[in-house]
Amino acid sequence: MQSFQELSKQFTEYFNIRHFPKEPATLYEADEYFLSLGGKRVRPVMCLMGNELFDEISKDAWPVAAAIELFHNFTLIHDDIMDKAPLRRNQPTVHAKYGESTALLSGDVMLIVAYDYLNKISTGYLHQVISLFNRTAKEVCEGQQLDMDFEKQETVKMDEYIRMIELKTSVLLAASLQLGAILGGASTNNQQHIYAFGRNLGIAFQIQDDYLDAYGDPAKFGKQPGGDIMANKKTFLMIKALESANPAQLKELKRLMRENPEDKVARVLSVFDDCGVKNWAAGLKEKYMNEAFEHLEEMAVVMVRKEPLRQLAQFLVQREH
Ligand code: IPE
Ligand code: IPE
Ligand code: MG
Ligand code: MG
Ligand code: MG
Repeated sequence: MQSFQELSKQFTEYFNIRHFPKEPATLYEADEYFLSLGGKRVRPVMCLMGNELFDEISKDAWPVAAAIELFHNFTLIHDDIMDKAPLRRNQPTVHAKYGESTALLSGDVMLIVAYDYLNKISTGYLHQVISLFNRTAKEVCEGQQLDMDFEKQETVKMDEYIRMIELKTSVLLAASLQLGAILGGASTNNQQHIYAFGRNLGIAFQIQDDYLDAYGDPAKFGKQPGGDIMANKKTFLMIKALESANPAQLKELKRLMRENPEDKVARVLSVFDDCGVKNWAAGLKEKYMNEAFEHLEEMAVVMVRKEPLRQLAQFLVQREH
């Protein structure tokens, strides 16, 4: 059983090649640029871990891990257009550097190259793999649309937020694990548990992402601080603040969301602080982590084999970037 660091190093060796043709450079340079910025490579490692949980890493796990990482990067390029984000991984986003049209196309072609990787696996599991991959990809689109819809809604309920982050983020983490498990020959029951582990962990992961967007250390975070506040995202922080604000604070929050003043981020953060929403992050993450660990326990695999997944889970919800 290998740790996140070991698997991540091996995946990087496999993945850090040129994935795109040279011409037209105006398109493919944007793709190579974005992949060169790296990122944590969490999802491909989860695929490898989900695979190694059941057996030695299978030959097919590598292209599937690559497909997942390419799909993830495609979603980020498009997400940054939707979120009007100038920075990612401490560097300019693709649309900021190359323009929106190129960003759309470089994302599109990256998605197609993801399918080229899926197409490399031996036929035995191909059908199952494509089914889960495609279901997940559709769910991510649904979650992204809800995320955008919620920007325009004055209020959003906590359970609607959880459902939205489950779709836009957690299903991909869950599927990464299950795809690995499928290729490892896992039983249906074990596949269901590893998916549920990933789904709950993924919710905690996005809660941490939303927390960092408001409270992260700008030196480590790598994205524009306060981007969610600027875009009127209904994160759990905003939802909790709207729920617990007194009438004056509520009026202030609604005014800030409507008028977008220069000092919006600082003012919203000050209402967040007054409402104590920062403290909600830990409790909320813990709830989903506990749920995740219950499913990890339930898996019919000897304890020691689960250790890397346990460590990965801790890292993901405590990360600072
Ligand atoms: C960012 O994912 C998008 C979310 C779902 C929160 P990551 O935090 O895994 O991004 P990289 O790939 O490491 O940059
Ligand atoms: C992104 O959520 C989810 C997907 C890319 C599908 P966010 O919009 O919060 O991700 P970041 O913060 O830009 O990485
Ligand atoms: Mg987004
Ligand atoms: Mg975003
Ligand atoms: Mg975010």
